[in-house]
Amino acid sequence: MSQKPPVAILGAGTMGHGIAQLTAQRGYPTRLFDVSQQAADAGQAKVQAALARLADKGKLSPEEKQQILGNITPTDDLRRAVEGASLVIEAAPEKMELKVELFTRVIEAAPADALLASNTSSLSITELGQRTGQAHRVLGLHFFNPPPVMELLEIVRGVATSEESLARASELARDLGKTSILVRDFPGFATSRLGVVIGAEAMRMAEQGVASVVDIDRAMELGYRHPMGPLKLTDLVGLDVRLSILDHLHKELGEAFRPPALLRQLVRAGRLGKKTGIGFYRWTDKGPEPAPFLAKAIRSLLLREHHLVAPGNFGAPLLDTAKVLALQREVGSDRRT
Ligand SMILES: NC(=O)c1ccc[n+]([C@@H]2O[C@H](COP(=O)([O-])OP(=O)(O)OC[C@H]3O[C@@H](n4cnc5c(N)ncnc54)[C@H](O)[C@@H]3O)[C@@H](O)[C@H]2O)c1
Repeated sequence: MSQKPPVAILGAGTMGHGIAQLTAQRGYPTRLFDVSQQAADAGQAKVQAALARLADKGKLSPEEKQQILGNITPTDDLRRAVEGASLVIEAAPEKMELKVELFTRVIEAAPADALLASNTSSLSITELGQRTGQAHRVLGLHFFNPPPVMELLEIVRGVATSEESLARASELARDLGKTSILVRDFPGFATSRLGVVIGAEAMRMAEQGVASVVDIDRAMELGYRHPMGPLKLTDLVGLDVRLSILDHLHKELGEAFRPPALLRQLVRAGRLGKKTGIGFYRWTDKGPEPAPFLAKAIRSLLLREHHLVAPGNFGAPLLDTAKVLALQREVGSDRRT
């Protein structure tokens, strides 16, 4: 492989470790930073497991696997991570203050011409650029889950992002084997804005007992040819991540994005999806299976808020048609969360 410039990935969670796998596969020396060495190592271990699965399927030789893994250096030292890097991709939690603080520290140690990219799903690239004082080289590189597999890369242009930075991003997309689209900085860009609406509506339907979680997903998979139903996808994305995006878009774009009560309740309970082993589904080595606790969560929500379902009777027909219709009206325009 030819010598490529080092890249730094900040945050070794769901997206960070996947982006690191992608850049390492494409031959970039990749520094994978997280707030503790343990978290950075855990990210690298996830890459190792993913590569082992590819090797088992015969898609990688043992030598290629070792070479790719050797391209990744996990670290908790931000300065070392970004030193000499031509590109920094931030995949830390979806909080503006945290991202501003992180970029401010990066700017002190990274080369003055390093591209500063955020993998944010919804936050303003213009604000991030303005608050870090380096707006010309700040832009969005929005990868999709899982980054080594998904074809799209959404390039988000802040108001002051330079043409040169955009050209470098588009060249990078090609080098990573992605198809890119260029999007103006607007809350939720061209993807999250549509994706979270379908996800949130599916959660409201689960709350209302329209169909089971599995059947709501099956409806979109078989009826609309979505490769994965919206609730399973929410589990893959992370319920906390989806809640942060909805909270932000609700503030910016209005009522259509109000987070469902059920989502907030599951996040409070620590049911964050695949990464915690349970969300709308229970996740095992064999994949997702229906999560019985969810029926209880929905039932208790209905009981608490609407006094509709008798304890132990979830799944049986709801008690009273007039009350059901009232419930649907109320939950459909839920203003309590
Ligand atoms: N999950 C998805 O499907 C998805 C898709 C596209 C974009 N995104 C965006 O990517 C970003 C990361 O999401 P995720 O799902 O990987 O989150 P995650 O919760 O899985 O991982 C976040 C990681 O960041 C680390 N972290 C916390 N504070 C940090 C700091 N100050 N510096 C560096 N790392 C820090 C955490 O330890 C954790 O390992 C978010 O902005 C999210 O909106 C997520």
